[in-house]
Amino acid sequence: MSNNKNALITGVTGQDGAYLSKLLLEKGYSVHGVLARRSTDTLWRLRELGIENEVKLVDGDLTDLSSLIRAMEISKADEVYNLGAQSFVGTSWQQPILTAQVDGVGVINVLEAVRIVNPKAHFYQASTSEMFGLIQADMQDETTPFYPRSPYGVAKLMGHWATVNYRESFGLHASSGILFNHESPLRGIEFVTRKVTDAVARIKLGRQKELRLGNIDSKRDWGFAGDYVEAMWLMTQQPEADDYVVATGLTTTVRDMVEIAFGHVGLNTGDHLVIDPQFFRPAEVDVLLGNPAKAIARLGWKPRTSLQQLITMMVDADLRRLQG
Ligand code: NAP
Ligand code: GDD
Repeated sequence: MSNNKNALITGVTGQDGAYLSKLLLEKGYSVHGVLARRSTDTLWRLRELGIENEVKLVDGDLTDLSSLIRAMEISKADEVYNLGAQSFVGTSWQQPILTAQVDGVGVINVLEAVRIVNPKAHFYQASTSEMFGLIQADMQDETTPFYPRSPYGVAKLMGHWATVNYRESFGLHASSGILFNHESPLRGIEFVTRKVTDAVARIKLGRQKELRLGNIDSKRDWGFAGDYVEAMWLMTQQPEADDYVVATGLTTTVRDMVEIAFGHVGLNTGDHLVIDPQFFRPAEVDVLLGNPAKAIARLGWKPRTSLQQLITMMVDADLRRLQG
C-alpha cells in the first residue's frame, strides 16, 4: 500500500540500490532510480529481487548536474539516497580522476540538485569505512580521524565533508552513513567475498581449479547488505540529520573468510588457493573494525547476520546460479 512518499536512488542498479529499492517498495514508497547509460544490461539485480518493473528509471549520471535536477523534478523526491559511485577501490588507482569526479564532485552535484529542486528533501550519502584507511584508533567510530589510503577513499572523504557542509551551511537534512564492508549474493564479482564464493562454487562443480588472491592478511568488518540498507532508511527518518557508523563490531582476515567458504562445501583451502602479486594494492587498508554503538542507541538498528551465515548464503547462491 502506498505511503505517499517518493524516493530517488542513485546507484539503483548496484548491490545496495537493489536491496534499498526492495525495502522502500515494501514500505509503500514510489521509487525512482537514476540509470546511468551503459551498453550492457545492468538490471540483473533488480530482476533477481523481482522488482525490475516496480522501480521507475530516469536516465542520468552523477557527473551531469542537469540530469540530476531533472531526476529530482520527475521523481518529486522526499528522500534522496546517493548510492552511486565508482565503488571498487582497486580501480581507483587506474581511474583516479573519474573516481574523484563521480565519488567526490558527483556528491556535490546531487546536493545541488536537492538544494535547487527541493531543499526539504532528506538526503543520505553513502560514505565508507575506507575513509579511516590507515586507522587512527583500534575501533573506529564517528569521532575517529580519517586517513584515506586510496583515490577512492580520498574522493569519498570529499563527498562526506560536502554532506556535512551542506547540512551546516544550508540546513539540509543531510546524513552520512559511514558503512563498513557489506556483502550479499548480489555483490559485484570484483569484490573479494563474491570473487571467493563464485570461485568456491565453480571449484566444487569441477569448472575451475584455482582461486587467485592478493593480500589475505587484511582484516575487514563484514556485514550483510540487506541489514545495512535498513540503517540508511532509519537515518533519513530521524528528526535531525547526523552521521553514523554502521558495522558489526567484529573483524576477520580475508584468509579466515576464505576458509569459511571452502569449509562450507567440504573442500580444503590449501588445495586451491594461490597468492598472486597482481592482486596486491599500491597501499593497503590493513584492518577495519567499526563501533556501531551510536547507530544501535539512536537508530535502534542492529546487524542480524553473522559472517558465517553471510558467506554460506553467498556460496549457496553461486552454486544455484551456476547450476542454472
Ligand atoms: P555497486 O554495487 O558498485 O553500485 C554502484 C552503483 O553506482 C551502480 O548502480 C552503478 O551503475 C552506479 N554508478 C557508477 N557510476 C555512476 C555514475 N557516473 N552516475 C550514476 N551512477 C553511477 O556499489 P554498492 O556496493 O551497492 O555500494 C553503494 C554505495 O555505497 C557506493 O557509493 C559505495 O561506494 C558505498 N559503500 C559501499 C560499501 C560496501 O561494502 N558495499 C561500504 C561503504 C560504502 P552501473 O551498475 O550502471 O555501473
Ligand atoms: N577485490 C579483491 N580481490 N580484494 C582482495 C583480493 C582480490 O583478489 N585479494 C585480497 N584482497 C583484499 C583487498 O586487498 C582488501 O584488503 C580486502 O581483500 C577487501 O577488498 P574488497 O572486497 O575489494 O573491498 P574493499 O575493502 O577494498 O572495499 C569495499 O569496502 C569499502 C568499505 O570499507 C568496497 O565495497 C568499497 O566500495 C567500500 O567503500
